[in-house]
Amino acid sequence: MPDSPLPIARREAFERDGFLVVPGFADAATCEALMARAGELVAGFDPAETRSVFSTTDQERTTDDYFLGSGDKIRFFLEEGAVGPDGELRVPKEVAVNKIGHALHDLDPLFSAVSRSPELAELAAELGLADPRLLQSMYIFKQPRIGGEVVCHQDATFLYTEPVSVTGFWLALQDATLENGCMWALPGGHRQGLKARMRRDGKGGVAIETLDPTPWPEPTPANGYVPLEASQGTLVVLHGLLPHLSGPNRSDRSRHAYTLHVVEGGAHYPDDNWLRRATPTRGF
Ligand code: FE2
Repeated sequence: MPDSPLPIARREAFERDGFLVVPGFADAATCEALMARAGELVAGFDPAETRSVFSTTDQERTTDDYFLGSGDKIRFFLEEGAVGPDGELRVPKEVAVNKIGHALHDLDPLFSAVSRSPELAELAAELGLADPRLLQSMYIFKQPRIGGEVVCHQDATFLYTEPVSVTGFWLALQDATLENGCMWALPGGHRQGLKARMRRDGKGGVAIETLDPTPWPEPTPANGYVPLEASQGTLVVLHGLLPHLSGPNRSDRSRHAYTLHVVEGGAHYPDDNWLRRATPTRGF
């Protein structure tokens, strides 16, 4: 029996495009359970704890101590549109949270189990990851009407190793469509090298270091970008150098997703990365 051509095709597609879309990776029950758990976590979140807003258009200013200390915790970041000029919440907290981060995969049993599923480990091996370590996770809400945009970026800007090794596993917990702010990506853009790196500045904040000042092309279909629409349960794997983004959500439907980032255990993890963990990263 010859080997099935399918795994080779998936790895080749991932290496060619910088991403891989796997429909039906998780069943509906798993997606619903993760959404229910996120709802419980938000129910336990006291908004008086923070007014930390997540913004990709004003990253250096909005990255505060609450964010920088979240690498080994479960913390809550708000949609920009959810907070008024005096810091008050303009909408109920259930629809105010932009994301939960960044150690759900270690601290919450359900997210840990999904993050350490044999299917995910097998896919990582199939795609050529040698010693993947679970570094960081996020639950993304992309709330109705106020879900913030995420400007074009490479994940290695924020989760940097030498050599670059970060890989993202993005699971659609709800249908992600053109209307509610699905991801977009530039196929093959992962071969252009890293354009920027976020580092701690030694003064309690962060700074973006430009490595290549050439801007990304405008994210339009004419420039080669493609929408990554994803029905519930679809897994999207993203190469750490792949340019990707998502628009704001102006629709009345949320777009929940769970994303897990892994790095190679053999790669160097610099001390001035924003994300610090009290415990070493572990494999699947
Ligand atoms: Fe990203």
